[in-house]
Amino acid sequence: MGAGPNLEGMAFTKEENEWLTRVGPGTLMGELFRQYWIAIVPTSFLPESGNKPLRVRLLCEDLVLFRAGNGKVGLVGAYCQHRLAPLYFGRIEEDGIRCPYHGWKYATDGRCVEMPNIPAEQQFCDAINHPGYPCVEYGGIIWTYMGPSKELPALPEFEFALVPEDLRRHRLFRSEGNYLQVMEGGIDPTHVMWLHSPYDLADDEVALVHQGPQQVVANKSRKRTPDQTDIVDTPGGFMYGTRRSLNDGTSLWRVNQFMVPFYSMPPGGDLRGARIYVPIDDESCVKWQIAWYPNRETKDKSKETPRLIQKNEEFTEPTNQPFGFIIPKANKANDYLIDWDTHRSRRVGITGVNLQDMCVTEGQGPTPILDRTKENLCSGDQTTGKARRMLLRLAKALREQGATPLGVREAEIYRVRGTSVVVPDNLNWVDSVKERVTVARSAA
Ligand code: FES
Ligand SMILES: [Fe+2]
Repeated sequence: MGAGPNLEGMAFTKEENEWLTRVGPGTLMGELFRQYWIAIVPTSFLPESGNKPLRVRLLCEDLVLFRAGNGKVGLVGAYCQHRLAPLYFGRIEEDGIRCPYHGWKYATDGRCVEMPNIPAEQQFCDAINHPGYPCVEYGGIIWTYMGPSKELPALPEFEFALVPEDLRRHRLFRSEGNYLQVMEGGIDPTHVMWLHSPYDLADDEVALVHQGPQQVVANKSRKRTPDQTDIVDTPGGFMYGTRRSLNDGTSLWRVNQFMVPFYSMPPGGDLRGARIYVPIDDESCVKWQIAWYPNRETKDKSKETPRLIQKNEEFTEPTNQPFGFIIPKANKANDYLIDWDTHRSRRVGITGVNLQDMCVTEGQGPTPILDRTKENLCSGDQTTGKARRMLLRLAKALREQGATPLGVREAEIYRVRGTSVVVPDNLNWVDSVKERVTVARSAA
């Protein structure tokens, strides 16, 4: 046996798996995530008041999202405090939402303000404590803060949030997997050349139709196994680079980012990418894919276009589940509409990188939450192990010492990007990619 890589700290106990994956109120991760702004939906999903409300669930809490007549966004508990009628069917008014059953009214911040089914002197609005969370609209997204602090977190300075509206695109899907396993797919350096690549790396036809431009370049190395993987700490998490030698004194480096608590960025070119993995509850999450150009000149010059919604990714008719309005047509229940002929001959028969990811991350083991005591992690999983340890560390420091988690106050740590770049072998790759993976203060 040769000298193996350092896999210390890579075994996870049943208890740690529980800590990492449970997100409801009072859980370790639930408390951690409640410290941050949480993306709910693009602003375009709730463009104007009077639209129907949206049923959402965040960190195991059922909520109704609506835009009141005065334009303010409200995010309040889904069930009326009187007899628990569903506020989804409530009437949206100038400054709140009124329960359809007996007319109790809630302001956009959740305060109960009227009990019109009983005489004024018998009303007890002040005694009612209804969930309601502040929302902001930022970067084309409605975000909320569900934490206990009076002081709101800093808004993360993501490049996609800072560029003009027409330079970015949001895609999001309800995924039937615990947020952690879905996120782990986003920081996993070794699956790309398997799950998402043609069986024959020279099969350009498959590559061009189904893969992003960065990956087509990777295929040209004709190497599935990276020559080297380095992980480097960053202010907001870590980045990792995988190297494939091009056998001419240069190497292709693909650089991904992980930022706390649940963000990743794949290698981007002109068009950059970010992912957000928002826990709906312990068994499902919203998987965001955001694409943007850093500026208009890049967009005008670029041959790269945002990945279109593939036919199989179009949404089903909305269901009455939370986030039931973003379920892709090809999903777990129908085997992602796999084409077995293609699967036999050319590539994984599920169309598109996104659904390919879903087919594995939604099915890891027989239980809804991946049982991490049953894994056999290898050196290719070091990024996964590192992210888990980082989350546990932050959550414990918060609970045991009241330590404000990384990123809650430091908006600038999110000024990063992924990249894919050829670097001469005699240069240090970290130095070489520094400018590309940093969003300068003057930019955007
Ligand atoms: S259940 Fe909502 S007002 Fe009665
Ligand atoms: Fe993937």
